Amino acid sequence: MVMYLTKEEEKMLNGEYGRAEQLAIRTIVKVGEALGATKLIEVRHVHVSGISYFNIGDAGLEFIRDLARYDAKVKVFSTLNPLAFDLDLGVNESKNVEFVKKQLEIINYLLDMGFTPSFTCTPYVIRRPKLGEHLSWAESSAVAYANTVYGARTNREGGPLALLSALIGRTYYAGVHVIENRRPRVLIDVKVKVRSVGEAGLLGYIVGDLSKHRIPYIRGVNYFTNTMVKSFCAALATSSSLPMCIIEGISPETHLLDEGLLEEKIIVDEALIKEYIDKLPINVRAPNTFFIGCPHVSILDLEHVVNLLMPERLRCIVSMNRFTYWYLNITGIMSYLQRKGINIVKDTCIVVSPYLATDIVSNSMKAVYYVDRMHHKKVKLYLQ
Ligand code: F3S
Repeated sequence: MVMYLTKEEEKMLNGEYGRAEQLAIRTIVKVGEALGATKLIEVRHVHVSGISYFNIGDAGLEFIRDLARYDAKVKVFSTLNPLAFDLDLGVNESKNVEFVKKQLEIINYLLDMGFTPSFTCTPYVIRRPKLGEHLSWAESSAVAYANTVYGARTNREGGPLALLSALIGRTYYAGVHVIENRRPRVLIDVKVKVRSVGEAGLLGYIVGDLSKHRIPYIRGVNYFTNTMVKSFCAALATSSSLPMCIIEGISPETHLLDEGLLEEKIIVDEALIKEYIDKLPINVRAPNTFFIGCPHVSILDLEHVVNLLMPERLRCIVSMNRFTYWYLNITGIMSYLQRKGINIVKDTCIVVSPYLATDIVSNSMKAVYYVDRMHHKKVKLYLQ
């Protein structure tokens, strides 16, 4: 299918606005055409993941360096995911000179392009998406949250494609940008009580696993705090390729349910939960580091963090966005938490950093999943 382009977009494609925009639009048009898109759409906010040198290595650095050479600049409000270390704390540079140099090179290129130094996987805290608004976001947990909770529209982009979107302020019109593709295909009836952030993550993981690529409509969830919804969405996107779900009582798009389109109805009861508990690292012996903050802790999650304070014998790491970090400093809460022996990091997390990886117990299903696979550490999912 050949895509319709506006005069402005034709100029970008012909290189009239420079090499970076030309490369960006050419790639996005190609991807869009492969997915059946007939046009491009303007986006209000781009969020780019894959900026940790630990994750993208030299190939990723080369890609970003090339764009910088072409004088790439963002055309729309654009934010960045966490990197490999806390920019203020740094790391032991004498031992990691090359690594630090390359990570900083990536960050400097991106900031020169005009990205906002957010360094968080919760871009919805930096700018709240609006119902029906088009975005181009990478970072699967944030994509699931934006579509599900705000009714904004973004596909699950890869980091490089989101970066290219930022350079032209557009993406292709396909996937869940199209309203018909947002309609649920599977109905999930939750017959269990969800009482904690850990349990919300476990439920999200199960729903994603059973729904596969079909958008689920979830009903029967008794009680979901903001922190629980974040955990649910992150886990849903961990066990599936889904960009969203619809949760009765929370999502603004429950009207998209058309019973005639449903392919399956699934009941989540105690027996099903037990099946998953038996397969997941829940009953293993606890490692001695507790991790909170996947996705990053925001101000709204602070009550949850304080409620979870662990017995002294556990080392505790909390990762958060820089704005929450500053808030804690200003209000004095930071010193209270530090007196409790809690290590607070911003800009990074234990999954995208080689320095923070350790055996963990965490209430985040997503963190448990990736720390096990990427860092080969002992993990335990905390459900209380
Ligand atoms: Fe965020 Fe790291 Fe989890 S980027 S969603 S805290 S894996």
